[in-house]
Amino acid sequence: MATLSIPSPLKTCTGKSLLTLTDFAPDEITSLLSLAHELKKLQKNEIAYKPLTGKTLAMIFDKPSTRTRVSFEVGMVQLGGHVMNLNRQDIQLGRGETVEDTAKVLSRYIDGILIRTYDHETVDILAKTSTVPVINGLTDYYHPCQALADLLTLQEEKGYLTGLKVAYVGDGNNVLHSLMHGAAATGVHLSISTPAGYEPNLAVWKETEILAAETGASITFYTDPLLAVQEADAVYTDVWASMGQEEEKEKRLKDFAEYQVNQAMMDQAKEDAIFLHCLPAYRELEVTAEVLDGPQSVVFNQAENRLHAQKALLVALLGEF
Ligand code: CP
Ligand code: NVA
Repeated sequence: MATLSIPSPLKTCTGKSLLTLTDFAPDEITSLLSLAHELKKLQKNEIAYKPLTGKTLAMIFDKPSTRTRVSFEVGMVQLGGHVMNLNRQDIQLGRGETVEDTAKVLSRYIDGILIRTYDHETVDILAKTSTVPVINGLTDYYHPCQALADLLTLQEEKGYLTGLKVAYVGDGNNVLHSLMHGAAATGVHLSISTPAGYEPNLAVWKETEILAAETGASITFYTDPLLAVQEADAVYTDVWASMGQEEEKEKRLKDFAEYQVNQAMMDQAKEDAIFLHCLPAYRELEVTAEVLDGPQSVVFNQAENRLHAQKALLVALLGEF
């Protein structure tokens, strides 16, 4: 059984929650990425590492999930722990028991809570009332676990983060908000292009600018997506209608028509640019099949990296050093 030396900035993270990526300082994020690379190497070499033996993570899902659900469950098991899957309708939360009471009760049994839900406020309340770490597995506002995997993928594919140019084209949504935080924390220059009315949240933009000023990152908005992707090292997009926005789908199809990532758009980026997408993807809407399934796409490595990034997070939050 392997032992790993935990990067020192992570040694003070035990017991913390991850609600938004700004809960972690830039050196903590960099350390999480280093640990994730080490954990990936151990797993590829089939070397067991089980620092979370005897620990249990409860997972509450109010929205569907493939990657988050499976990667957290597999990750906990690989680290020696267990997972309990709790759908809202299967527990008393679905019958009106408060989030606060649920948090207090779960804290008596388990060691951490992952939640995917709509309102970010629900996750805030859960974290305030719980005595164990809470992990945001996606809200309408943020998707911090995804951003960790995105950074890990960029670092792995390009060899470095600071100074990279990443272009995000599409909806100013939860995935973009967390990517903004992650890019700013690691010195990545982020170009964003969204249709009018779909820009990222102004408060997140301001937080990102402050963080970027500390790290040398930059964040730039373009109305023209083809200008945003010029000379980019990576082009990122996400769905046009997120979970909970299904009734807006028809309107969004029209509003986002010029924002599809296709080969002509990829050709504006650097020749060795990679294509990123958090998945699930809708071929011929936000991205053509040619790009998603083409040689520049690293989306399945990116999906795999959810596992490695989250294992690092679980070790940092639930581990005992
Ligand atoms: N990217 C992502 O969070 O995927 P799931 O919705 O499948 O968890
Ligand atoms: N923005 C998407 C991400 C899915 C992982 C959504 O919220 O549905």
